[in-house]
Amino acid sequence: MTTEMSSTEDIIGRKEIDDLEAILSVVGTEEADGRHVVHSDYDTIFTWDYEKGARPKLNKLYEKAKNAQWNGETDLPWDTDVDQEKLVVIAAEEQGGFAAGFDISGTPLEKWGDKEWIAFGVESQNWTLSQFLHGEQGALVCTAKIVESVPWIDAKYYAATQVMDEARHVEVFAKYLDEKLSGHYPVNAHLRMLLDDIIADSRWDMTYLGMQIMIEGLALAAFGFLHQLTPDPLLKQLLRYVMADEARHVAFGVLSLQEYYQELNAAELRERQEFAFEAAVRMRDRFLQQEVWDRMGVDPKTILPVVLSAPDRNEFQALLFSKIVPNCRKLGLLDAADGWLRTKFTELGVIEFESAVDTSEEYDAMAAVPPSQRELI
Ligand SMILES: [Fe+2]
Ligand SMILES: [Fe+2]
Repeated sequence: MTTEMSSTEDIIGRKEIDDLEAILSVVGTEEADGRHVVHSDYDTIFTWDYEKGARPKLNKLYEKAKNAQWNGETDLPWDTDVDQEKLVVIAAEEQGGFAAGFDISGTPLEKWGDKEWIAFGVESQNWTLSQFLHGEQGALVCTAKIVESVPWIDAKYYAATQVMDEARHVEVFAKYLDEKLSGHYPVNAHLRMLLDDIIADSRWDMTYLGMQIMIEGLALAAFGFLHQLTPDPLLKQLLRYVMADEARHVAFGVLSLQEYYQELNAAELRERQEFAFEAAVRMRDRFLQQEVWDRMGVDPKTILPVVLSAPDRNEFQALLFSKIVPNCRKLGLLDAADGWLRTKFTELGVIEFESAVDTSEEYDAMAAVPPSQRELI
């Protein structure tokens, strides 16, 4: 191997993965002019090889994507009345109470009544949907970058459909937040660090790895989770359409990188493994919802140890990786470079999903035909 081995500290900026103090010290700020600029220096590639279908699996994905475009304005029941507080109460009843599963004795939450718990639940909804929104804009930008930087025509075609998908996702999450919820949150600092790293990297395959495999893989699992849990029919339908698209997007990443990674040597694959590990940690960090605790006037340092030690927490956290791990295995990333990523995913407690079905095999099953398309068929 020719490259220097990076330490955990080199990759994620701290020695211990679970160093709560270090995680919470990274705090996001929003630029006063409302813009976030990331410099990126990469090659834009033209190809003169226009042979459509030279990569049959990407071509098939492209043809499917063309028929799966839904319309965020007309295919969703926007007249649905969304009562955020009621949704919080329903969710709490299903889970057996507001603090079910947590030992809150001796914490500031001990004094919380229904009012505070409901306010927390409402903030949590606002935060969750805000992060989805920012992540979707990240996907929009990354996919536009792939259109420019990937060398294959079938991939450029497919990526172009994904740009449109992501525009719709940004559009519907923004509309849902504005019209149905009660406040925005800035992009979480850990999510932003990850998006910045993905955008700034000059290598085209790193955009795919960071976005299609890691962020979208996690989004697919997180959307699926919320889709199951939410009693709101509007959000349920919205997530159903978005998930159908995301499954294709992740499949796009798997099918493209599978080919490209065969050309890479062990040292190059190790760099990809490190990038995947960094992304996994950033995404884990973001789920701490530190901004919600801040807004509720509770110091995250006092309460997060309690939240993190709840019995269901590890299971939830691991489930978020249920799409990422099998896809990394399919790409050969778990076992390349002496199984470095397998070791890291084992430390993160997510290796159990390695044999789950990978997304290049299951995207068809997740397809959803929207009413506007049904009329055309
Ligand atoms: Fe998306
Ligand atoms: Fe996507």
